[in-house]
Amino acid sequence: MTGATLTVSGGGSLREVLIQGIYLVSSVFFIIGLRGLSSPDRARRGMGQASFGMLLAVIGTLLQQDIVRFDWIIVGLLIGSTIGLIIGRPLWIKVPMTSMPQFVAISHMFGAIAATLVGVNEYLLYGPQLSVGTMTAIGFEVFLGALTVTGSFMAFGKLQEIITGRAVTYRGQNAVNFVLFGTAIVLLGVVIITPGLAAAFWGMVLLAGILGVLMVIPIGGADMPVVISLLNAYAGLSASAMGFALNNNLLIICGALDGASGFLLSVLMCKAMNRSFANVLFGAFGAVTAISAKSAAGLTARAITPEDAAVRLAFARSVIVIPGYGLAVAQAQHILRELADLIEKKGGTVRYAIHPVAGRMPGHMNVLLAEANIPYDQLKDMDEINSEFDRTDVALVIGANDVVNPAARTDPSSPIYGMPILNADHAQSIIVLKRGMGSGFAGIENELFFDPKTSMLFGDAKSSLTKLVAEIKAL
Ligand code: TAP
Repeated sequence: MTGATLTVSGGGSLREVLIQGIYLVSSVFFIIGLRGLSSPDRARRGMGQASFGMLLAVIGTLLQQDIVRFDWIIVGLLIGSTIGLIIGRPLWIKVPMTSMPQFVAISHMFGAIAATLVGVNEYLLYGPQLSVGTMTAIGFEVFLGALTVTGSFMAFGKLQEIITGRAVTYRGQNAVNFVLFGTAIVLLGVVIITPGLAAAFWGMVLLAGILGVLMVIPIGGADMPVVISLLNAYAGLSASAMGFALNNNLLIICGALDGASGFLLSVLMCKAMNRSFANVLFGAFGAVTAISAKSAAGLTARAITPEDAAVRLAFARSVIVIPGYGLAVAQAQHILRELADLIEKKGGTVRYAIHPVAGRMPGHMNVLLAEANIPYDQLKDMDEINSEFDRTDVALVIGANDVVNPAARTDPSSPIYGMPILNADHAQSIIVLKRGMGSGFAGIENELFFDPKTSMLFGDAKSSLTKLVAEIKAL
């Protein structure tokens, strides 16, 4: 943010002071809104604060003197608000929680299209006369924007299974991407020095679009949330560059916030999976559905009936629930709450162990359990709860798999080796609710299911939990 622009450019008219004031307040609301999102109990309020910030941003922008006519703006506002309302109201089109990652990906694509179009428009209007500073800003805006448009669309396609979710690889792939990237950067440099050279500008846009596709196809579906969050960072940086090009403080601040938070989130996700950033982006994880070297072949899993499982839960003094992706698929969070209430009524304690990458997006389990009004203080982070499993009667694993796979600790040949896991196997006994012996996202077997302490309650999680509730009530 430049001090010069804040000291009211354009002659310091009252309107300009008002607009900059509104932008400043709006930015503050974005920042405190973002802060709220870092904890489940403040997240809803955080969203409200950020939305209010956005309302202020729109009002401030509508006050701009440069606006010559409002008709197209009103049409755009109406279309955008209608789409937002339709998607946002669960009664009209319900985007299931499990589809949220692809929903986020496609939203980024639209944001990036907007940023790219603004940059292209500025170039078409003022191309050859642009100063080096402005051309640099527009160049970065369009480069990152175009890359994000196609990259986000590929990520959406993979998650929505329009295209294969597997990593698509070929020999020399990283080298090809590197050369294309280098060429695009050279073209960007050329157009900055000679803005009138339209061929360099369009060549750079084209290469950025191709790079978006090529950089995402070698990444498997399991790593897509990391990619989406990284593309989110690119979209943010593109918007920030747009702010410099248009001399708009609000865009600079919001873009920087978006860029930094998207990047930090990608890093945190990689850390939770014990993967390096480079390994996610260039390692083609998921190219093969690797089966752990320590195959569970020859071992048998022990099934348990709902009656027996209910007795064990009803008389347990301590239960740790481990929710996973299957709980979200089954939408069994409400009946889980009912089960937990019954166990507590019988004198047991219930806590929930939250793995940072359980489910399919950051905070997936927190949001899911919050839907069922499960008290936040019962939700425990991995580091906080892992030492408690040794003193726990029952670890109740519901639709989780990779996040409790001991191969992550013991099998160096496993693709998830090194990922921190929840110590479910340390509990006195383990009850696993899943439909069959299906693998998790990493596509590998899980020894935990063959552990002598483990009992498998097969079936859809919602129906199994419903049976458990009925059985405990009948005890
Ligand atoms: P997963 O390892 O994906 O396992 C989910 C299990 O749920 C499956 O084994 C499946 O077994 C079971 N299941 C599916 N539908 C069910 C239903 N209706 N009822 C009962 N069970 C059902 O889940 P996880 O343990 O949560 O691990 C998450 C994985 O996603 C990790 O590998 C993680 O790295 C990856 N990932 C997560 C993120 C984020 S940010 N969360 C980002 C990238 C990657 P059955 O088919 O036998 O039922």
